[in-house]
Amino acid sequence: METSQNTEPKTVSKSHNPWAAAYESAFMKACRREKTEYTPIWLMRQAGRYQASYRAIREKVSFLELCKNPKLASQVTVQAVEDLQCDAAIIFADILLLLEPLGAGLEFAKGDGPVIHNPVKLADDVKRLRSYSTASEIGYVMDAIKLTRSQLPENIPLIGFSGAPFTLASYLLEGGASKNFEKTKIFMYKNQEAFSSLMTLLSDLIIEYLLAQAASGAQAVQLFDSWVGCLSQSDYELFVQPHMMRIITAIQNGHQASNPGGAHLPVIHFGTSTAHLLPNLAAAKSDVIGLDWRLPLNKGWDIIGTDFAVQGNLDPVVLFAPQAEIKKQVQLILDQAKGRNGHIFNLGHGILPGTPVENVKYLIEIVHEYSRI
Ligand code: CP3
Repeated sequence: METSQNTEPKTVSKSHNPWAAAYESAFMKACRREKTEYTPIWLMRQAGRYQASYRAIREKVSFLELCKNPKLASQVTVQAVEDLQCDAAIIFADILLLLEPLGAGLEFAKGDGPVIHNPVKLADDVKRLRSYSTASEIGYVMDAIKLTRSQLPENIPLIGFSGAPFTLASYLLEGGASKNFEKTKIFMYKNQEAFSSLMTLLSDLIIEYLLAQAASGAQAVQLFDSWVGCLSQSDYELFVQPHMMRIITAIQNGHQASNPGGAHLPVIHFGTSTAHLLPNLAAAKSDVIGLDWRLPLNKGWDIIGTDFAVQGNLDPVVLFAPQAEIKKQVQLILDQAKGRNGHIFNLGHGILPGTPVENVKYLIEIVHEYSRI
């Protein structure tokens, strides 16, 4: 891989604005609900274990070492775009990195998924969490973004991301992955004030982190609220929605304030099993809403309305099916989006390990081919 001495984002000169090409890309136009020549596509977890090149790197370094090494993180980010010919890059990192400096004791254990060794159990445990500066303690993500921006083709936008506070809180409270989120919900009901303090602490970190990612060269940001669909609508309204509204407003205002007259920073708000929550997600006024596959794309879009772009929504398991089935399901989604600006094709959740690479490439080819006007 080529290395770059200067990893700072290039300054904008009158003769050549290096951000212009990405700004005019199909992905960024779709975020703004402008007409595009074809439907842009990128895939959550587009860099990962389904790729031989990724597995080769992982034989030498652990997942956390990979995330903390800007040169390697940048390499796998760029490699995914080169291999797949997709329309956007997403910085290689993980939502749980934000929890490590809090003193959570983060470990990615082999085969078991993430483990939080010091989970929050009592209301007082929230007070013991150490707030910190994202720029200094997880500065390696910002370094990876700077390096990646300098290595990517100029017309490929780079997406930054963070976990949303509920999904992050669920890992802190459960100590890892969960099916029913009992510990999270019991804590939330029993210790309402402490839960709100935890959500506020995480929200403050998320705002600072995403603004730092944008300042380092991320041209759009995605909030992953992967597990929020486990909540009822009334619990979401009470315990989560005010935090999401604050975060998205603060990111958009903060970005505008540090770039007067500059480009708007699109925010993508993603969750799974959120069919019942779509009006509430819409209330936080992101630019794009990520939809999973459980609801047809057009039905989800009708619920949130035409003020939003949408991202989605192929079931990741379809990528294991024969190509004729993949094609049929892709055409169905593209037909459902027809006639509306602002569709970014994606899976309804991340690519699963073991997905055949040739089917991922086939998906991207047919989305481009079938949607081209
Ligand atoms: O999309 C991309 O290519 C960027 C990288 C990315 C990763 N994780 C890399 C990763 C992104 C955007 C994430 C987000 C993430 N991480 C989410 C939200 C999205 C979602 O899937 O719901 C969540 C919940 C996590 C937490 C997480 N990280 C889990 C539950 C796991 C273990 C499960 C698994 O798939 O192994 C991880 C590990 C992880 N994050 C891997 C990758 C490539 C696999 C690590 C490995 O190499 O062994």
